[in-house]
Amino acid sequence: MNPYKLLEKYGPQNEKGMHILIAHSEAVAKSALILACRTPDITIDLTFLKEAALLHDIGVAQTNAPAIGCTGEAPYMKHGLLGAALLKELGFGRHADVCERHVGVGLTKEDIVQQGLPLPHRDVLPVSLEEQLITYVDNYYSKGSLKPDVPRTLECVKKKVASYGSRNIAVFNAWVERFGVVE
Ligand SMILES: [Fe+2]
Repeated sequence: MNPYKLLEKYGPQNEKGMHILIAHSEAVAKSALILACRTPDITIDLTFLKEAALLHDIGVAQTNAPAIGCTGEAPYMKHGLLGAALLKELGFGRHADVCERHVGVGLTKEDIVQQGLPLPHRDVLPVSLEEQLITYVDNYYSKGSLKPDVPRTLECVKKKVASYGSRNIAVFNAWVERFGVVE
């Protein structure tokens, strides 16, 4: 598979949206690969890690987020679900799971119900190491910032993750311990 061909075809069809998506996705892929290589005690499929990191946000083009060049109709919160449906349809089920499970630190059914999110009522949590690593690293990068390829500081990411609840920050802190800090 060629992730760039897929991004070109299914990403935002405007320069701003495509630029932000590519810059963000490449930054996530690069950081995920660096952390994976620094963690020799675990077996990670690096080819899959890179492909899936590049594709994890492919669903954004179908959402309504004009600030990042996305002019679709769906709520932004559905970008993981929509990306997953697309990649599944194309036969990339493993990559699809990364799309669906990467939002925040993963969402529990409880989160979805309590927050009234426009998502099916089931857990969507990162399971494999590759899924966890991409989800973890993604939290450092904001597509909405002026520099979507520059990571936020650990302190800043922790503050944001903690604002979503105690489960979120506990999961995130465990990842900091396991994978190290993105710099
Ligand atoms: Fe992302």
